[in-house]
Amino acid sequence: MSNQKGRILVTGGTGYIGSHTVVELQNAGYSVVIIDNLSNSNADVIDGIERITGIRPDFVEADCTDFDALKKLFADYPDIKGIINFAASKAVGESMTKPILYYRNNLNTLLNLLDLMGENDVKGIVFSSSCTVYGEPDVNPVTEKSPIKKATSPYGNTKQISEEIITDAIYAGAPYKSVILRYFNPVGAHPSAEIGELPNGVPQNLIPYVTQAAIGIRKELSVFGNDYNTRDGSCIRDYINVVDLAKAHVVAVERMLEDKSEEKIEIFNLGTGDGVSVLELLESFERATGVKVPRKIVGRRAGDIEKVWADPTYANEVLGWKAETPIDDTMRSAWAWQCRLRERGIM
Ligand code: UD1
Repeated sequence: MSNQKGRILVTGGTGYIGSHTVVELQNAGYSVVIIDNLSNSNADVIDGIERITGIRPDFVEADCTDFDALKKLFADYPDIKGIINFAASKAVGESMTKPILYYRNNLNTLLNLLDLMGENDVKGIVFSSSCTVYGEPDVNPVTEKSPIKKATSPYGNTKQISEEIITDAIYAGAPYKSVILRYFNPVGAHPSAEIGELPNGVPQNLIPYVTQAAIGIRKELSVFGNDYNTRDGSCIRDYINVVDLAKAHVVAVERMLEDKSEEKIEIFNLGTGDGVSVLELLESFERATGVKVPRKIVGRRAGDIEKVWADPTYANEVLGWKAETPIDDTMRSAWAWQCRLRERGIM
């Protein structure tokens, strides 16, 4: 049975952002059932969640593109009140070579969930979107009203199309609400070092590469470009602590379930409001941990955006949520997680 706050279905709940969100949901008094196909994660994550919260979330190993499996899940858990949808493929580069896989995974998952929500009295869905929808912005920081640019990868396109699907369904009178969250760059790990990011193979994203280079798994970090039109020539992003990010999902769920949403569909940028360059992030990591990151400057990575950071005012004011963790603390958490993986003999 779920407790009084009700049950939340977290798709992709053993993944990086999903697992941190399950922790915060349980800390806030929600019951959770996770569905995950473990394509890019590991069932051990459930143990980490249990060690942090003292509660073991229910877990169903299945693929959200499998309509029958999802239908059975809703039959087994008739108390699901809300959904947070993290289940998606997320590697920009891979999406260029496997576009159909990306469209199938990301869009069929969403379509199945929306179909079943309507039939099962689910009040709302929180959708993981991305700042990628703004492309290379003409003006920074970006607000939710900044123009949406044509997507530069199938991954980015799935986020844009998903936002449109949800919007169209709700305008057509669907019996649920949605909160769309556009993440900037999520980094760091839970301060307990029980859960964190666990990339498959060679990391494509900056921080896992940094921690792996720092611990000696990788020879050196390649800094992609020092000739951008920025203060030190490297790209600028808005790096947001993953626990801060997870907490925003709890607020979003509460808004939908407690009928506080101002509109049936709401969109929020989730970032810190600070633009940080790649070289500044490396300085922060070294200052916070005392560990050097071996590096070399190489050419630009195709498809990279020069600079993008959030104006999070709307989320700050309307959700009453703010990213609070200083970047040095976030870097320390990423390093503690890498060291924990080493202790466990995983990496
Ligand atoms: C991109 C997408 C984001 C998506 C994410 C998932 C944009 C603006 N963002 O983030 O929506 O969710 O991928 O993969 O399209 N860097 C290095 N060396 C490395 C790795 C990265 O210098 O080895 C630099 C990059 O050039 C970039 C920064 O670090 O300037 C961050 O890169 P990364 O972590 O890959 O994230 P984004 O490309 O910003």
